[in-house]
Amino acid sequence: MCGIVGYTGSSQAAPFLIEGLKTLEYRGYDSAGVEILDASGRLRGVKCAGRVSALADRCKTEDLRSTCGIAHTRWATHDAPTDRNAHPHESCDGRIAIVHNGIIENYRALREELQARGHTFRSETDSEVVAHLVEETMSGAASGNLLEALRLATRRLEGTWAIVAMSADEPGVLACARKGSPLVLASTEGGAYAASDITALAGVTSHVLQLDDGQLARMLPSGEVAVYDEQGDAVAEPDSLDIDWDASAATLGGYDDFMAKEIAEQPAAIERLLEGRFADGRVLLDELTLSDEQIAQIDRVYVVACGTSLHVGLLARRLIERWARIPVVAVAASEFIYEDVLVTDHTLCVIITQSGETADTLAAARKMRAAGANVFAITNVLGSTAARESDGVLYIKAGPEVCVASTKAYTAQMVAASILALLLAQKNGSMATGEVGRKFRELRHVPDLMRTVLDRSWQAKAAAHDFEHASSALFIGRAANSATASEGALKLKEVSYLHAEAYPAGEMKHGPIALLEPGFPVVAICPRDNVRDKMFSNIQEAIARGATCVAVATDGDEDVAAVASRVMWIPECPDNIVPIVAVLHLQMLARYVALARGCDVDKPRNLAKSVTVE
Ligand code: F6R
Repeated sequence: MCGIVGYTGSSQAAPFLIEGLKTLEYRGYDSAGVEILDASGRLRGVKCAGRVSALADRCKTEDLRSTCGIAHTRWATHDAPTDRNAHPHESCDGRIAIVHNGIIENYRALREELQARGHTFRSETDSEVVAHLVEETMSGAASGNLLEALRLATRRLEGTWAIVAMSADEPGVLACARKGSPLVLASTEGGAYAASDITALAGVTSHVLQLDDGQLARMLPSGEVAVYDEQGDAVAEPDSLDIDWDASAATLGGYDDFMAKEIAEQPAAIERLLEGRFADGRVLLDELTLSDEQIAQIDRVYVVACGTSLHVGLLARRLIERWARIPVVAVAASEFIYEDVLVTDHTLCVIITQSGETADTLAAARKMRAAGANVFAITNVLGSTAARESDGVLYIKAGPEVCVASTKAYTAQMVAASILALLLAQKNGSMATGEVGRKFRELRHVPDLMRTVLDRSWQAKAAAHDFEHASSALFIGRAANSATASEGALKLKEVSYLHAEAYPAGEMKHGPIALLEPGFPVVAICPRDNVRDKMFSNIQEAIARGATCVAVATDGDEDVAAVASRVMWIPECPDNIVPIVAVLHLQMLARYVALARGCDVDKPRNLAKSVTVE
């Protein structure tokens, strides 16, 4: 996790660094810090526990005039989120400063070794060893060359890193290194920029360089960026990427919070995703780089993801099995490393990851590639590690998702999974062409169905009252909507801190029903589908125990209206579309409950959007 930025050029560094941190704050917000090279040639830093806004306030009273600097926003891994542990970290002599995203696994041994050689540590972080190692190599084998010093230092590291370093002895130069944690660079007329992801650079460039694992870069005030490999040899053509995100997409644009904005953006996101995906009776998905014959031969699919994206995976499993008749295993990426995988020459692995940087998901994908599977990524972030390391990638085009709780990526990923399932079904002949076309037309109705639900936000707002004084809630659903229930419970607990549990409704009688007492909130996903009558029975069982039932039901279902304390209505829609539409009510419900409880919906405690540690 953690977000890092760096700048060297002809403009003042601090404004970009602080704004960059604000953009990257979704990556972690335990502490933040900034360091510049001042006019007297000294490195000077300001850092503090807490959010970037606290750092920005402190910076107002400091003289940070400089055209070169680095900055960091932190999600604590090993040690407490204190001022001392905030980045940047300095060497003993204060002439080297570094910011780091990742984990230095062998930091204890390195720290002991460095201490034995007389180094004094000021923090408990794993990252600080990098500053001291660079200090040694800078005055030793690298003889004053910051990039070479960093290269030699990284040879001692085990783990993952994106590092930006600066030195008082090479004024204006920034050196970067990457292994396992993302880092993008920009070369412009006004200077050179580094950032953990492209959202921080969208306002300064539309073209970024991407460092590969093991690569390093030297950034100069002229804007020049030179990339080197692990041996220190120049890389003639580093990877690059054109950014087609509008910088304003990552601003609030009149909304109270990003969660509200991103919930509202869902219909437009789905429209973008569906554009150009169907022509002449065929689903178009050239990103799946397998021949028709290879696709027809796929005999097993693994769907691997974490959190909200895993809930998409549970739905993807149903769609692929039902439409393409291929057996699917859907599994949490964090558990996947313990699984015995059964890979044949015809196994497809689908990874679903909004950020494209989730460490567990990347590890799962690497395991599957090593075992011989073709890996296909469904992701949102252009040029992310998942995209770069997969055999094919379907971008969901949801635009930057800033709120830590995923909303628009969830529904866009479900539509992406539907497109993939239809393609597989079409290519292996499990579904007739006419039927594929009919299903695709159903997907085209999703944006309007969503707009109808968004217009009914007052229903979720009214239902939120039933949760204000609750200490727990149960979400139930059946079939595809047991995943919807899981997503609703996850959303509620992460943004409102209210305990919530999801259960397949049929399992309620096997234990969770013991929780129910008068006033206990139960959210029941009960659309008019082939399991509606069984769900209705479950609602009645809950109400019989005094539970307060908030139902999601299909327009006109008067039976549900008669028994539930509140109903959030969805328009009539096909079974496979319901999860994509119904979840909007649950997203809005979670937000309203969180706001009523005084929570920061965009930055829930303890969380970070990009989970780059295993
Ligand atoms: C919840 C949420 C997380 C992510 C999970 C995986 O709202 O956002 O559960 O879904 O951390 O992240 P990605 O999709 O980036 O791999």
